[in-house]
Amino acid sequence: MCGIVGYVGRQPAAPILIEGLTRLEYRGYDSAGISVLGPSGQTVVRRVGRVRELEAALPKRLSGTVGIGHTRWATHGPATEANAHPHSSEDGRVSVVHNGIIDNANALRERLTREGVTFTSDTDTEVLAHLVARSAADTLEKRVLDALEHVVGTYAVAVLDVEVPDRVVVARNGSPLIIGVGEREMFVASDVSALVRHTSSVIHLEDGELASVTARDYRTFTRESDDTGRVPTEIEVSEDDVEIGGHGHYMAKEIAEQPETVARMLRGRLDTRFGTARLDGLNLSPRELRAFKRVTILGCGSAYYVGELGALMIEELARIPAHAEAASEFRYRNPIIEPDTLYVAVSQSGETADTAFAVREIKRKGGQVVGLVNVVGSTIARECDGGIYLHAGPEIAVASTKALTHMGVGFALLALLLGRVRDLSVADGQRILAGLERLPADIATVLADEERIATLATELSAAESLFFIGRVRGFPVAREGAQKFKEISYRHAEAYQTSELKHGPLALIEESRPTVAVIPDDELTDRNRAAAEQVVARGGRVVAVTHPGVDLGGLDDRRIDVPRNEIELDPILLMIPMQLLAYHAAGALGLDIDKPRNLAKSVTVE
Ligand code: AGP
Repeated sequence: MCGIVGYVGRQPAAPILIEGLTRLEYRGYDSAGISVLGPSGQTVVRRVGRVRELEAALPKRLSGTVGIGHTRWATHGPATEANAHPHSSEDGRVSVVHNGIIDNANALRERLTREGVTFTSDTDTEVLAHLVARSAADTLEKRVLDALEHVVGTYAVAVLDVEVPDRVVVARNGSPLIIGVGEREMFVASDVSALVRHTSSVIHLEDGELASVTARDYRTFTRESDDTGRVPTEIEVSEDDVEIGGHGHYMAKEIAEQPETVARMLRGRLDTRFGTARLDGLNLSPRELRAFKRVTILGCGSAYYVGELGALMIEELARIPAHAEAASEFRYRNPIIEPDTLYVAVSQSGETADTAFAVREIKRKGGQVVGLVNVVGSTIARECDGGIYLHAGPEIAVASTKALTHMGVGFALLALLLGRVRDLSVADGQRILAGLERLPADIATVLADEERIATLATELSAAESLFFIGRVRGFPVAREGAQKFKEISYRHAEAYQTSELKHGPLALIEESRPTVAVIPDDELTDRNRAAAEQVVARGGRVVAVTHPGVDLGGLDDRRIDVPRNEIELDPILLMIPMQLLAYHAAGALGLDIDKPRNLAKSVTVE
């Protein structure tokens, strides 16, 4: 969703802001803009469309060394130049960029209009620029505080004032905001990927915190103006991590690097002697782990589907009742929070608003929640009582791939740990550990079959509508397969339990509507094959995602074989061909794979 960058230093700000905005493109946006403070005042340039169009529109001589920039995802008002950020006060003195939503923007707009302010956009953000400019306080910091006093909602904001040309003032409430500390230069960003090229020394602002940032210094403080004295921490993300390398798309890069990233994630976490997982970050003793009677997993979209996989692993390995639920629904249904339930929030970005609100709701009601999160220091990671970092590295493509695989691995580790403090034997624990150790090589084996999978994907891409079917462990795989396919190929892809096909959807089967069937080598292979054969008998085409040696009879010509691992871990591997099918189908259709229409990488609004 929307992205913020800011710079205060010795170098011309514009190229740094443009580069930062380019790094944030992956989050999804429809317009962009920057504001630069220079010797002749403030220059604001905004454009609908891509950052490169904004860059082309910049005046040749733009030498100011202080500035802010924004990529906007339209919420209040359409994607027009007038609605793009930064928004300025009437006198052009103050400019503001904002992520989040101001809930009382209409009331504020009416009040300001009555007071004689003329609005030039439909946005909620513009009220902020006017409020800051109209405050009578004697410093920019106090004027921002004054303005925020009136505001109800979520925000990350960065503010410039022509009269105070040496600084950017920023504030956070519910939307991420990071300060990057450099050598006589400072950076501001809503996402570390926008500043990794310049510094690895960062401060993640907390909700309710503000900062006044100059080239040599920064001061962090509360809404009551009390200093918070925050010190920077070092981040692990490097510039290489966010480069596309030799790949055609970030999605291809992220699929390809999974053998390496999964191996990295497992390092130090496998206790082969006791057949268990080492997950110190959970902050839970064996006694506390034993006391949980249930596990509830919360995530959105693909993270929710992998959560379903996680619930199955926990039930199988630890024999604790477990289920997954869409965090976006959970938070609105006044959930019953139980003290003996372990709540698990799962999120790549750690910034998904629905999941973050679910975490807060659980904590408000006294529940214990741990996170499976990729982005270190993100909102969800910080708000949880403990967690498992996924260590997948930055994921730039909107369609999640490697982070989901890592979520699967994270759930396997959690299930193993919960199992080993209960009834799971050391031998079974060691069996799972051995399976986890084989995962990187097994993933590489699937990836080696990419050419064949690409051929099948091209064939599937011609269909307007598809089914993805699976059952039990295979059903979350089918759900995720359909999700990935529809996200980037824009084809209608519907996931169904294989067992439910005959209860209705079979009526839709015809040659033009193919089915991707998950048919693992397990206790249900015969039933799954029989269901797929029913599809073929009705004129449907089937691509089977299966294990070597599974007898598929007449379905053999369109099979994708995935190496057999341990039965509990197999679904993690079965998801890999789904990534490749979606990627190559979208490629065959010539679509914008990394930035699919209408979607954002992290959904930070409700
Ligand atoms: C995945 O391909 C999707 N882009 C989307 O469903 C995503 O998984 C969901 O929005 C949750 O994001 P998160 O993992 O960052 O919380």
